[in-house]
Amino acid sequence: MFEHEQQKISERIRSFCVQNDLPQPVEIAWSPVPFSGEWGISTSFFQLAAQEARQIKERTGQGVNVPQRAQEIAASVAEYLGKVPGFSRIEAVKGYLNLYFSSSEYARRVVDTVLAQGRRFGAGEPKSDRVMVEYAQPNTHHSFHIGHARNAILGEAMARLVEFAGYETIRATYPGDIGLGVITVLWAYDRFYKGQEPQGIHERGQWLLKIYVEATSLLEKKEDETEEDKKRRESYEQERREMLRKWDAGDPYVRQLWKETRQWSLDELEDIFDILGIHMDVWFFESDVDEPSKAIVDELIRLGIAEDERPFGGAVIVKIDEKLGLKKEKYRTNVILRSDGTTLYLTKDLALAKVKFERYHVDRSVYVIDVRQSLYMQQVFKILELWGFPQAAKCHHLGYGFVSLPEGAMSARRGRVVLFKDVLDDAERRVLSVIAEKNPSLSGEVRQEVARQVGLGALKYAMLSVDNNKDIVFDWDAALNFDGHTGPYIQYAAVRCNSILRKASAEGIELQEDVAFDYALDAAEVQLIDLISRMPSEVQRAANEYKPLTIANLAYDLARALNDFYDRCPVLKAEPDIRLARLRLVMAARQAIVNTLAILGIETPDAM
Ligand code: ARG
Repeated sequence: MFEHEQQKISERIRSFCVQNDLPQPVEIAWSPVPFSGEWGISTSFFQLAAQEARQIKERTGQGVNVPQRAQEIAASVAEYLGKVPGFSRIEAVKGYLNLYFSSSEYARRVVDTVLAQGRRFGAGEPKSDRVMVEYAQPNTHHSFHIGHARNAILGEAMARLVEFAGYETIRATYPGDIGLGVITVLWAYDRFYKGQEPQGIHERGQWLLKIYVEATSLLEKKEDETEEDKKRRESYEQERREMLRKWDAGDPYVRQLWKETRQWSLDELEDIFDILGIHMDVWFFESDVDEPSKAIVDELIRLGIAEDERPFGGAVIVKIDEKLGLKKEKYRTNVILRSDGTTLYLTKDLALAKVKFERYHVDRSVYVIDVRQSLYMQQVFKILELWGFPQAAKCHHLGYGFVSLPEGAMSARRGRVVLFKDVLDDAERRVLSVIAEKNPSLSGEVRQEVARQVGLGALKYAMLSVDNNKDIVFDWDAALNFDGHTGPYIQYAAVRCNSILRKASAEGIELQEDVAFDYALDAAEVQLIDLISRMPSEVQRAANEYKPLTIANLAYDLARALNDFYDRCPVLKAEPDIRLARLRLVMAARQAIVNTLAILGIETPDAM
């Protein structure tokens, strides 16, 4: 927000160096002075002093006391700068140069910047790096459960975050559309249900899960199995294997069956994307990279990275630790081709990465995948590194923990899953009843729309306000608590701003752009302004650390600070000049809350 000032002062420091025969600083880095009643920025002279000391040492062989010299330089720079417009004072302390803003000037600048930039407030300058975020990639022939929802919500927030931070962003999904699980469903569908299909996109998608559960049970050896059961089970198993073989061989009947049922899952997935506000740029499928991945195996053998043990009845493997020259076991050994020539999940990931790097030219690649796949992801990245991809070092696994409901754990094999659609339908019902009670004046149509925004907001925030690696026990009562650490609490803070502004306009108060904050700011105002001013740097930090949680926390802190301000500082009842300043602060706070929520993929209702 103060880049312009920083740059000007940096320039003056550089001319100071020229004039005083000092070396040119490599970089002049500014950081905020920790707030204690005054806002300021600060830069250190240690590096410059050390640079100079090295030169003196070379020339004369003499040593220099670097901290002392840093302080000397800081003090002379402070003197040289004299009075700088917009700053109330300058000091040199322990080798640092601190410049303090006058509080009223700072407050005004923050508020003006937010209101001039609007929805773009907090966004970063465009950058040349291209980032791909891969997320929301469930397996087909299955159903979308609450764990998948966490993945989709986290991935979308990550994509929005890097995009807002200024990176060119590509959203990608990679549904697992082949494998034994998919074949199991195909087999059972063909055997028992061919020609049937339930009505409704979600019903149909969810039906496949039922078939899967039923099939798994039919194929499972029971404890009290009779001879006859056994025979039947074995013949089922044989049919399933035959189905897999036929799929592999490209049998038209099986391929058609597969395409048709796969589409059912994709229809459901696209509808869920619509609900969640997700627009994918690229759709990769596991089945697309199966063939190409076989060529990669050959290449890795040729390069001496993989070992072909097929002649001895084995598989093709990569001894990652050995190839990396590690003495201790860390990444272990991976099979990349089975002895029967079929590929593995990992083989396909190698092919996928190649496409991401070579066709989409990504500089950074983020994978939103279950945290339990951490070792697996490291193995993929290390093989890419061995293979020679420079971008391998810029691959990042964004893991996420398990989601359960208070009633207990899920098991897809047993059909005990918490379906996303059920959770969402439940949300709408609950939110509608809360809103009917809190704000009976909202019309039916508006109420429906607000219920959607608040229900989704509650769900999304519950998923994003917990460290991504930690497990979540999702509880609607907690997520919808308007006084808790929740989405609705934050949305409500923004709505509160709206109602203050609406009241002001009803009272005929005309908002003005030219307002001064030259009164004694209340501590709650200071806190609010301080938080708002941090948004741009927090966005950069969160994007670079892959931490949407940082933004979730900022949103909550802003909402809390707003409520504090609301409790402590009269706005409409304040005297006219203060009132105008505070109204503008309310507008800025509202915008900052809306913008942080938007990064999280959460909409802000006008009223609720
Ligand atoms: N389809 C997989 C699953 O549901 C997730 C895919 C993750 N992405 C990847 N590149 N491996 O478990």
